[in-house]
Amino acid sequence: MSQTNRSRVTLAVGGGIAAFKVATVCSRLVQSGIDVQVAMTESAKSFVGPATFAALSGKPVAAGSFESGHWPLGPHIELADGTDLLVVAPATANLLGQFAAGLANDLVTTLYLQAECPVLLAPAMSHVMWSKPAVQRNVQRLIDDGCHFIGPDEGWLSCRRRGEGRMSEPEAICAAIISHLSAD
Ligand SMILES: Cc1cc2nc3c(=O)[nH]c(=O)nc-3n(C[C@H](O)[C@H](O)[C@H](O)COP(=O)(O)O)c2cc1C
Repeated sequence: MSQTNRSRVTLAVGGGIAAFKVATVCSRLVQSGIDVQVAMTESAKSFVGPATFAALSGKPVAAGSFESGHWPLGPHIELADGTDLLVVAPATANLLGQFAAGLANDLVTTLYLQAECPVLLAPAMSHVMWSKPAVQRNVQRLIDDGCHFIGPDEGWLSCRRRGEGRMSEPEAICAAIISHLSAD
């Protein structure tokens, strides 16, 4: 994988078990020469520490709407500006619902509304959650809104059952990211 011109990806990490796989996505993108800025939801920090993503991306993680380093505009404005692709992984049921409804009560949801670039969502959740009509309605609405999806795949889930809902593997997510950046 190689990326000649320095594209900028904002990698928004949601609060699901699959967040640990997003560390690999971050590392591979950086090794490909992509400028990666990580943003995390509050829940995501319970799964992987911001220090991990800061070390892998080589820059501080954005995790709050009111961080003083981003005044006066706010981090959602600064992060969205100049981003070539917004990637949300794992895209939790909560984030899909918030995005679909246009709600913005934290950094990642506000960033989604502020983004003017393409958006790639990598959902991850239990098969039961993924199958819920409400979640599928949100997915359809987001597709209609122009969002791109990768996965979820079928396979082993952290709830110790098999089914559709497993986040796509880092290799597949990175390939989809490169493909979107190349299409620009
Ligand atoms: C151990 C554990 C694992 C979870 N895994 C998922 C998951 O894979 N997908 C999901 O949508 N929610 C999952 N949740 C629930 C989310 O963490 C919860 O809905 C949270 O509010 C999501 O916040 P966020 O969307 O702002 O990141 C999990 C919760 C716990 C405690």
